[in-house]
Amino acid sequence: MIAGYSVEEGFEEGSYAWVHFGVRESDNAPVAVKFARESDQKSLERFMFENRILRELDGHPNIVRAYTEVGKATRGNAHKHYYVMERLKCNLSKWLDTAFTSDSYEVKVAIVKQIYATIKMIHDKNYVHRDLHEGNILMDIVGGAITPKLSDFGSAYDLSRPKKLTKPNKLMWGDLLLPPEIAFGIIDADDPNYKNGDYYAAGMLVKVIFIGGFDTEGFLCTLQGSIQRFKQKATGQMSDRYLSARKSREQRYQDYLEWCSAESAKFNDACKFDDLEDDELAAKLSVLVEKSSNLDYNQRENNPDELMRFVNGI
Ligand SMILES: Nc1ncnc2c1ncn2[C@@H]1O[C@H](COP(=O)(O)OP(=O)(O)O)[C@@H](O)[C@H]1O
Ligand SMILES: [Mg+2]
Repeated sequence: MIAGYSVEEGFEEGSYAWVHFGVRESDNAPVAVKFARESDQKSLERFMFENRILRELDGHPNIVRAYTEVGKATRGNAHKHYYVMERLKCNLSKWLDTAFTSDSYEVKVAIVKQIYATIKMIHDKNYVHRDLHEGNILMDIVGGAITPKLSDFGSAYDLSRPKKLTKPNKLMWGDLLLPPEIAFGIIDADDPNYKNGDYYAAGMLVKVIFIGGFDTEGFLCTLQGSIQRFKQKATGQMSDRYLSARKSREQRYQDYLEWCSAESAKFNDACKFDDLEDDELAAKLSVLVEKSSNLDYNQRENNPDELMRFVNGI
């Protein structure tokens, strides 16, 4: 497939790519090769951008390392764009399935701290990830040490080159962790609150990491479902037509606030970590989720330094 690497036939699938595993022949380093499914101009630009960010952040302990630039290689009988990166053990979702119960609170707190610090780091470079979920955080597991690494910057956004983001019907961000304020189309690229969406996702991931995937997933599905129903009811049109049906930002903002207050009681309930065997930790995590993921972004901790101080104090 690619000169210098022996690559296995088997692969893992994301929405935009196939990821094959293999080794670099020169030193037997385990590698993962990401092939883009699409090769039109727009998809290629995104793929190059994702690779460029990884290379720019190269050497950061919590960012997956890309070993090559984007190239073109044969996969099956097609020619596809690819890049090679370090191979990590698994994604967060798989880690939850396998090691979730055996790992201590301490380990989980360390994972959470690293995820928050890494988000802060990419934001300081003016990138927003926009697609943080269990499939895009990879786990490096060496001996007993577990290091989360952010990957898949395929939806990332460079805030130094702002464009209008709330184009009708064009929402970025992974489905389940789509921040409500983005779903209602009230945040533009020049709004400093835009970065907040990554922390919204991180807060929800804290729940995933401590409560377990399944319950949280149910909660997130219900939440997104309720946004869809609200949009439909408010406009009398299918929810995916909401942004074009509701042209006025002011009106969308009113919708959003109304939706938030209708859902906030359920959200506050979901913020609890009652099942944890450590009450003090449960209380802190609960505050962290509220600070990061409050449905109403006006009520989140908007100062990233303050948020980091809180996280580091857990
Ligand atoms: N470097 C890697 N090491 C190990 N597994 C990986 C690596 N990169 C991706 N994967 C696996 O492949 C899946 C899809 O990769 P991803 O980059 O998220 O593709 P997509 O852009 O299509 O979402 C991940 O969830 C993970 O399970
Ligand atoms: Mg992905």
